[in-house]
Amino acid sequence: MTDPATLADYHRRLLSDRRRCEVLRRALSEVVVAGQSVVADIGAGTGLLGVLAALAGARRVVLYEREPLAAAWAEEFVALRGLADRISIYPEDVRYVLDPEPADIVVSETLGNLGPDEGIVALLDDARRRYLRPGGRMLPESLELVLAPVSSAALHHEIAGWVAEADLPLDVTKIRDLALGNAYVRRLARTELVAWPSPERIWTKYDFLRDGPQPRAGVAVWEAPVAAAVHGFAHYWRARFAGQILTTSPADPPTHWEQVYLPLPEPLELLPGERLELRIAGDFDAGAEPFGQGPGIALEWEARAYDPAGSLRGGWSCGVGGPPAPLDFQK
Ligand SMILES: C[S@@+](CC[C@H](N)C(=O)[O-])C[C@H]1O[C@@H](n2cnc3c(N)ncnc32)[C@H](O)[C@@H]1O
Repeated sequence: MTDPATLADYHRRLLSDRRRCEVLRRALSEVVVAGQSVVADIGAGTGLLGVLAALAGARRVVLYEREPLAAAWAEEFVALRGLADRISIYPEDVRYVLDPEPADIVVSETLGNLGPDEGIVALLDDARRRYLRPGGRMLPESLELVLAPVSSAALHHEIAGWVAEADLPLDVTKIRDLALGNAYVRRLARTELVAWPSPERIWTKYDFLRDGPQPRAGVAVWEAPVAAAVHGFAHYWRARFAGQILTTSPADPPTHWEQVYLPLPEPLELLPGERLELRIAGDFDAGAEPFGQGPGIALEWEARAYDPAGSLRGGWSCGVGGPPAPLDFQK
């Protein structure tokens, strides 16, 4: 169990994110059929989504929240709004609830900075199979994961380039290389993305209404319209909640989420017409515990630059938990 101050701080960030709360409010008011809908909130926290669903007219709302203190706060808020006759609270882990009440709408905001890193993929897969009535709605219904090349000498200097200026009696390259084996949660500005028109690529899309395994690997490809130094990549997401889009794109107004920066040890200098490829793979649910208690995210990225004739002329293989390695150009 998390201590009250840490938990309150977590929920303070969620509840003070006006964009997040407004998108969720609008989405629920679009899909809830007054007097009819039964809504299940998977990971209900302080009960915001359930209260919004009830205010939109839901006939019945069931909140599932495994953090006992958050569930107690939700219960208090529901009672204070006079909604206890329509909202029930299960202070339990949704994965272990037996025979859950069938719902017309399953809603869950269990999104992390990477997107799936708070476990939304597994949670919604289970919820679709066990909680959702046939023909029901999932909120979100999809989640797109997006990559964009970053061109930021300052960010590169902070994470990798500082070694050139370090005047210390230590082999600091070891520290740099190990620190490069990390995905950095950062608030990136639109101006830190490479200055190409439409620099973003959707590398995978989760469809929460679909059965079957969800994608865990993909590739993004760019053709450089103008020269650029690529220092790393921004990873962010776009989730569709009914007709509403919630996104962490650096081009959009900020939310409480940040982007994730995938660094390269050295810049890839792209010339006009050259091709840039980023292969990415991850086991996102491996880290699906709040407050950093989980074993961490498994994530690997491999960047490749090709000349206009299609020959590989540079690249790096990187990943969380290990130093980057240059690609073997002979292969
Ligand atoms: C990002 S918060 C969202 C809270 C609330 N729905 C909101 O929008 O303000 C996600 C919540 O999901 C809960 N959660 C995560 N995994 C869960 C699980 N397996 N069972 C029940 N609750 C879970 C967390 O404890 C956390 O309170």
